[in-house]
Amino acid sequence: MRLSDKVALVTGASGGIGHAIAARFAEEGAHVAVHYSSNEKPARELVEQIRSQGRKAEAFQADLAEVDAVTKLVHNVHSAFGRLDILVNNAGIPASGEVTSFTPEQYQQAFDVNVRAVFFAVQAAVPLMPDHGRIINISSGMVKRPSARGSIYAATKAAVDSFTQSFAHAFAERRITVNAIQPGPTLPGMFGRHSKERQDAYAKQSLIGRLGKAEEIAALAAFLASDEGALITGQVITADGGVFS
Ligand SMILES: NC(=O)c1ccc[n+]([C@@H]2O[C@H](COP(=O)([O-])OP(=O)(O)OC[C@H]3O[C@@H](n4cnc5c(N)ncnc54)[C@H](OP(=O)(O)O)[C@@H]3O)[C@@H](O)[C@H]2O)c1
Repeated sequence: MRLSDKVALVTGASGGIGHAIAARFAEEGAHVAVHYSSNEKPARELVEQIRSQGRKAEAFQADLAEVDAVTKLVHNVHSAFGRLDILVNNAGIPASGEVTSFTPEQYQQAFDVNVRAVFFAVQAAVPLMPDHGRIINISSGMVKRPSARGSIYAATKAAVDSFTQSFAHAFAERRITVNAIQPGPTLPGMFGRHSKERQDAYAKQSLIGRLGKAEEIAALAAFLASDEGALITGQVITADGGVFS
């Protein structure tokens, strides 16, 4: 088990990819802070599942559009578990629409949740982390090929990629690694809310003939979080079956 006794905070662990990451980290021996915003039930169920495996787990509610809630979340997790080794900034929202019809409020919400929360979670977490800590940011493969309707979403994730590279330098002295994963269309998760036709079209567009699985993103996150990932920092790794190649 590669994450024995590490404490991980996974934001958005009530959703598809975050749930898979939190579950995989627990399988690898980590204690897990399961963050959610509005979907309490899957978070509570995941906590029970992790506890049944003999690890510590707690659910934490926070609306990460509120910057104070971001900081409070990190401090609450640290107080509850007594340490914080791994931060996974996974929570995110889609933003899809015509450039001509987005409102300033939609723009602001996307940047608050997808970008600002990442920055201030890292700002709060790093002073609490031991040396050799791990930060993993969940970006999106769409950064490589922003669609017409994905202008705001892709820009938020491009900002996350930029933070990733900058943070890797900022915390290098403490040997805290910082990496981003760019998933392609992945199930379960927000992509599951698209029509079957759209899902099939993306599967065809991939080089592997199918969509990604949240467990596959979790496997990569577990590797980056482990000692085996120590060589890798400041990287943005695409895991999309070639959809955006
Ligand atoms: N699935 C894909 O195809 C795909 C592809 C590329 C990138 N991604 C990225 O992967 C990450 C996870 O996405 P997913 O597919 O697993 O989506 P998801 O199932 O919709 O989960 C999103 C998670 O983010 C949380 N969240 C949403 N708004 C929030 C807010 N204001 N404050 C705090 N938490 C909030 C949700 O919490 P509640 O449900 O509790 O409200 C949920 O846990 C996101 O960053 C997304 O951009 C996904």
